[in-house]
Amino acid sequence: MSETQADTVQQRVDELRVAIDRANYEYYVLDAPSLADAEYDALMNELKAIEAAHPELVTPDSPTQRVGTTPQAGFAEVRHPRAMLSLSNVYSEEELRSWGARVERFAGTTDITFVTEPKIDGLAIAITYVNGRMHHAATRGDGFVGDDITRNIRATKSIPMRLNMPSGVPMPGTIEVRGEIYMRRDDFEALNDRMAEDGGKLFMNPRNAAAGSLRQKDPRITARRPLHLFAYQIGYVEEGELPPTQYDCMMLLREFGFATTDIRRHDSLDIVWASCQEWLERRATLPFEIDGTVIKVDSLRLQDEIGYVAREPRWATAYKFPAIQQVTRLLDIQINVGRTGTLNPLAILEPVNIGGVTVARATLHNEEEIARKDIRIGDTVIVQRAGDVIPQIVKVMEDRRTGSEVPYQMPDTCPSCGAPVHKEPGVAMRYCTNAACPAQLREHIHHFVSRVAMDIDGLGDKLADRFIELGWIHDAADIYRLDWEAIANLEGMGEKSAGNLRESVERSKQQPLWRLINGLGIRHVGERTATLLADRFGSLDALQQATVEEVNAIAGIGSIVAESVVDFMQEPRNQAVMRKFVEAGVNTTDGRDGHKENGRILDGLTLVLTGRLETLTRPEAEEKLRRAGANVTSSVSKKTSAVIAGADAGSKETKARSLGVPVLGEDDLTRMLAGELPAELQKV
Ligand code: IVH
Repeated sequence: MSETQADTVQQRVDELRVAIDRANYEYYVLDAPSLADAEYDALMNELKAIEAAHPELVTPDSPTQRVGTTPQAGFAEVRHPRAMLSLSNVYSEEELRSWGARVERFAGTTDITFVTEPKIDGLAIAITYVNGRMHHAATRGDGFVGDDITRNIRATKSIPMRLNMPSGVPMPGTIEVRGEIYMRRDDFEALNDRMAEDGGKLFMNPRNAAAGSLRQKDPRITARRPLHLFAYQIGYVEEGELPPTQYDCMMLLREFGFATTDIRRHDSLDIVWASCQEWLERRATLPFEIDGTVIKVDSLRLQDEIGYVAREPRWATAYKFPAIQQVTRLLDIQINVGRTGTLNPLAILEPVNIGGVTVARATLHNEEEIARKDIRIGDTVIVQRAGDVIPQIVKVMEDRRTGSEVPYQMPDTCPSCGAPVHKEPGVAMRYCTNAACPAQLREHIHHFVSRVAMDIDGLGDKLADRFIELGWIHDAADIYRLDWEAIANLEGMGEKSAGNLRESVERSKQQPLWRLINGLGIRHVGERTATLLADRFGSLDALQQATVEEVNAIAGIGSIVAESVVDFMQEPRNQAVMRKFVEAGVNTTDGRDGHKENGRILDGLTLVLTGRLETLTRPEAEEKLRRAGANVTSSVSKKTSAVIAGADAGSKETKARSLGVPVLGEDDLTRMLAGELPAELQKV
């Protein structure tokens, strides 16, 4: 190979590496990929091919080297050049203020700027970069000596192998970046589902899952685990100087290409406390778990002056959130019959206060869960309530057993109607076999009118139950045949309420097809699958003609779901109900004017997401938008159809406004995903 040829090859290799690193950064750190999977794969394949032909060009920081090939026997030890400390805790405003007073005393001034950051519930690691390249990585261990996890960290694509150097900043010789490895809640759930399918042992919580994934002997397994890092500190630099404040360090870490914790600066403890409360409120809606707020003195010079006690810095502390787990007793297990006839076991607990809310019930999911956790009536259990999610039994405290605990037996007959119960082999659930089971009907109607289905305002659970008891509703289509005069005459109703209810029922007839499909209560079909079915078939009529093969051919729908859909559609009783919908004038097609058949509502639109969303995570929102046909990109240009701005949106929103690109809110996003196109996006 001539010298110029070699130069060109090297140049291409460099280009590919930069592009792949950039794509990893966009995907894992920014949550905003600009490359399609296939484009990413093409770059990677090209790089692999060149490296195979020119092994001399392979470097340890090449993206192809992220996944090692062989498991290792154990982890080598790494001594941390600077100890990795822990934090003192405060549990109240009062304790925070006495911490603040101590800080002021040691600093010799009351003029102190603080920063707050969420305290991520994961594992601390330290990654050392030499001349901008990842050199090694270690767990915190005992704070002095940790495990060498370099190969696993290399396998984690959310972590840069090379630092992106901002212009004008001299490359530090050796720099150690510290941060928290964590797993997102949704990724954790999906991983546990996968583990359950493979018959593996489940992880207890995202933190456990992150720890287990990080300590894999085989980096190929770590590579498949969705680990993320939030950097929160520069441990040290060997040459050169650190920026003067924690805040500036974090900005530098961001420029290097790290995701950092969301840091805010405050001039007084009042605001620090307000920020702690804000994080506490946001806790339940975040896509990852946090267990407190970390408060630090911003100035690194002041930090040094304030110093350390034992193994904790005096200049930082953690406001620990109130516990979300409590110990209580399991008094009984009851059965709820779900809308598709599933028998759902429910734990009845000795009432216990968790974070200010009295908890007396917890979900037990299914009998396999009861067996797996070996839950017996009378057991002392740990119960967890995290935000809005239904409380759960985390585990049984087996050492508290007295011998009087009774293992639970699922019933063979439906506790609501007495019909025999069916259990398919290999399926965790039991079902009531009586399609007319009153408990099923109640749950089915509650679901049909709910916000995720036909969204009929004013038809609450109690009123629906009343209509069922009166014999007015035998199936969901009966909602469209109600006798409004009789309703107006019901005790506690009157003309006005009846009129309002009638209006919402009428309005619901125009709901998009996916809502009706979701409302039908087909086993295994939720919002996501309902949307896929509506997209593919475009009408209830077409869906009724569908074969298992056709349904199964939809990406994202498997054979069990496909069979369930077709079984449902072919059941004469269900067909009768669907005919009733048509007769009542309920919309059963995807009649979105101006779109080609099977066209999706957002086809041809280019959207950019920015800011914090409340109802969805970014990747969820992106996925939904893409499924609805949109092209979701990360940067705003004249070609952008609209920017969807959540809370605290920044430069992207500003840029959109300056270019005259419409800026939409989260409400518009919700409506768009429900099939309504905001006026700004409607083509003339
Ligand atoms: S700073 C000397 N910032 O909390 C200060 N730690 O209890 C060192 N953690 O070992 C820690 N989020 O694993 C800091 N934003 C954050 C953090 C954080 C989580 C963890 C970290 C540390 C532990 C201390």
